[in-house]
Amino acid sequence: MKVILLGATGMVGQGVLRECLRDPAVEQVLTLGRSTTGQKHEKLIELIHKNFFDFSSIEHELTGYDACFFCLGTSSAGMSEQEYRRITYDLTMAAAGTLARCNPGMTFIYVSGAGTDSTGTGRMMWARVKGETENALLELPFRAAYMFRPGYIQPLHGIVPKTRWLKRFYDMVGPLYPLWKRLLPGYVTTSEQMGRAMLHAARHGARKHVLENRDINELCPPPPLPGL
Ligand SMILES: NC(=O)c1ccc[n+]([C@@H]2O[C@H](COP(=O)([O-])OP(=O)(O)OC[C@H]3O[C@@H](n4cnc5c(N)ncnc54)[C@H](OP(=O)(O)O)[C@@H]3O)[C@@H](O)[C@H]2O)c1
Repeated sequence: MKVILLGATGMVGQGVLRECLRDPAVEQVLTLGRSTTGQKHEKLIELIHKNFFDFSSIEHELTGYDACFFCLGTSSAGMSEQEYRRITYDLTMAAAGTLARCNPGMTFIYVSGAGTDSTGTGRMMWARVKGETENALLELPFRAAYMFRPGYIQPLHGIVPKTRWLKRFYDMVGPLYPLWKRLLPGYVTTSEQMGRAMLHAARHGARKHVLENRDINELCPPPPLPGL
């Protein structure tokens, strides 16, 4: 399987990249980003592109892929709806539209988030915009598209959140992950489960096109935690 990964420098994308590189069934991973991941691996090709609203100059490099894992995204904190929509909807649709045209046999997996609003009418701006994005992606002519809605994601294997405030947040709540997992199993997952569940959906499909946190964990059961 040949995979394109967007958002590979982010917290979710780093986890997904790790699982892709470890999976023997993945023969190649192309990361498409505005900066490098800094990683070197025989299966990894990095494509740096500066304008994420226009991929016409690199279309020829984006063909022949079986799956796209779209982990690119931004927080809505401090953003107007217009600014947030430009990244979340416009940029995503520019990338996905190009990929659908170049790879009609592709499975496309989008990371949105728990609480995403499919009706497009809710009061939470981020949830509405993510919901509109999901709906538009589901209309594109991919072989299959899956919307992943994780809740809390525990970064594993040395993955560090990009922003300082998020790093501080994970330093505080991360050690309590075994407790969250026991109390709220349907609302928490890990960076490893995200990657493995995406690979599973790309290879075997999934029963639903919109997968909530619980569905993601069901696709990829977690390894048992020591002591639990
Ligand atoms: N983290 C969580 O616990 C969590 C939970 C639920 C859902 N999610 C969703 O998962 C997605 C990824 O989250 P994350 O925590 O991994 O975010 P992150 O660590 O901030 O990473 C964001 C990624 O998107 C890229 N990106 C952002 N804006 C871009 C732009 N304008 N042009 C090109 N690339 C851009 C970043 O690239 P650069 O390195 O170049 O900035 C980076 O690779 C988001 O949609 C988020 O809502 C995350």
